[in-house]
Amino acid sequence: METFFIVFWIIVLIVIFITIATYAIGGMSAAPWVPLWKKDIRRMMQLANVKPGETLYDLGAGDGRMVLIAAKEFGAQATGFEIATLPYLLAYIKIKLLGLSGQANDGQAKIRYRNFFKQDFSKADVICIFLTPKAMKKLKLKLQKEVKPGARIISYAFHLPGWTETKKDKPNQKTTAIYIYQK
Ligand SMILES: C[S@@+](CC[C@H](N)C(=O)[O-])C[C@H]1O[C@@H](n2cnc3c(N)ncnc32)[C@H](O)[C@@H]1O
Repeated sequence: METFFIVFWIIVLIVIFITIATYAIGGMSAAPWVPLWKKDIRRMMQLANVKPGETLYDLGAGDGRMVLIAAKEFGAQATGFEIATLPYLLAYIKIKLLGLSGQANDGQAKIRYRNFFKQDFSKADVICIFLTPKAMKKLKLKLQKEVKPGARIISYAFHLPGWTETKKDKPNQKTTAIYIYQK
């Protein structure tokens, strides 16, 4: 019995350690997990003019709320990339529970446990970003090299250095800016 409790607590401590460590790694790599308001996600989808069947990437997907809305409400083939274990698991469970991962769906949502700096962006029609200005600086050349002509990049709150926006949406003082770029 005593051994059982020791093993149990070791496992609990390992899980807590991995959760905190991967959260910190995400924060240092590109941005900590700060979930977007769903109304802002819908605003981003509308500004990007996301159409059914389009391939959408969310770089740093958190708990998957963006890929779920993109798939469910806009019919996108949406994939999110996440490296922090807790939000990744939440996204994975939500996608499975909502049955949005199957090929049969018009809109499809996927979550990948992957560093998006190692992901090729050439297949994306729409790329969504809510990251720190420092991470955007790191990302700009990769985006310039890999994003296909006509694809849109939507950035929440921060301007993407080295790119000229096709539109900046900031309806009033209180609303956070959203920047849209097209290659
Ligand atoms: C500000 S949150 C994004 C919120 C999310 N897009 C939403 O719709 O709520 C940034 C996320 O990026 C993740 N992240 C940071 N660096 C990453 C990397 N290199 N690869 C994958 N995910 C990363 C963080 O763990 C965090 O969950």
